[in-house]
Amino acid sequence: MTAPHAGQPRAGARILGTGHFLPSIVRTNADLEKMVETTDSWIRERTGIRERHIAPEGMVTSDMATEAAKNAIAAAGIAVKDIDMIIVATVTPDMPMPATAAFVQQKLGLKDCPSFDLSAACGGFIYGLSIADQFLRNGTMKHILVIGVELLSRVVDWTDRTTCVLFGDGAGAMVLGAPDGSDRGILSTKIHTDGSLAMSLMIPAGGSRTPITHAVLEERMNKVKMIGKDIFKAAVKNLHSASQAAVDNAGMTNDQVDWVCPHQANLRIIDQVVQRANYQRDRVLSNIERVGNTSSASIPILIDENVKGGKIKPGHVVLMCALGAGVSWGSALVRM
Ligand code: ACO
Repeated sequence: MTAPHAGQPRAGARILGTGHFLPSIVRTNADLEKMVETTDSWIRERTGIRERHIAPEGMVTSDMATEAAKNAIAAAGIAVKDIDMIIVATVTPDMPMPATAAFVQQKLGLKDCPSFDLSAACGGFIYGLSIADQFLRNGTMKHILVIGVELLSRVVDWTDRTTCVLFGDGAGAMVLGAPDGSDRGILSTKIHTDGSLAMSLMIPAGGSRTPITHAVLEERMNKVKMIGKDIFKAAVKNLHSASQAAVDNAGMTNDQVDWVCPHQANLRIIDQVVQRANYQRDRVLSNIERVGNTSSASIPILIDENVKGGKIKPGHVVLMCALGAGVSWGSALVRM
């Protein structure tokens, strides 16, 4: 156990285990060329995406979340019954009510722990980490399961080429444990929302504003609508500032960050954020080419792949940052 360095804040919640799940069906850019007027080269040049995973019929969000959760719990080496709380970050729940987290709890065989969903779109997993960190730092709980999961293929308009090429399905999870007094754990988190951009990325119908009617379904108002350029600009600006704040608040400098794990929305967004912060490209992890944008699942999937793949090692400092609908965004700095 290493004590915190002088002048640095105490580390908070520790990441005890990570896990992820990607459904086995893969939809390539070539497949999309047959569905909408697009090309593999347009998608790759504008986004960096080659393929994405799609959940099969019958699979629901809580199924994917539960698989990722089981992986994370196994990696953490704790018993399922030791989970004190479940937070599911998602904008594609099993149903509007009850929370997907309730289904995950039931599928894990648990009965009592508080379990709730949080809606912060692509920023959701960082929000989940930040909330879990508070409960673990203040000693209320010992183990919290944080899941980011999206089944976006069910809410994407497969006739709209400006959005359908971007998204994929998947789930990522982490088991967080109470701080142990060492320098390992969450060093800082930052979360923000700018509601003035709320209409830039939305599913307009299905809530109280526009209940579902036949006309609404015909106009596909129950599907994702996006003003891509607004989101792009907001992402570059805010991800850079939030990332810098996470590092500054931990009393560290960018060269002490071992791995940057940005939300996988668009390779051009990632490149611009990385250039602004002057991170070396080989320290920036990415899997967007294979999985597309899985929204709240993006960061935990990326981290689990690189923990299991051996790149991210115990003691490494990992910077996460994400932005999405709301617009909501955030960052977290963690010593693994
Ligand atoms: N295939 C071919 N052509 C396309 C496609 C497509 N799939 N989609 C759009 N086009 C066309 C447009 O119609 C337009 O044609 P026009 O010039 O004749 O009007 C042209 O390509 C350029 O379109 P733009 O919208 O200007 O393209 P841009 O370079 O902005 O890229 C993109 C669009 C990729 C959506 C970009 O704006 C983006 O990534 N924004 C971020 C959005 C995002 O990532 N959202 C995800 C959720 S939020 C998040 O995770 C951060």
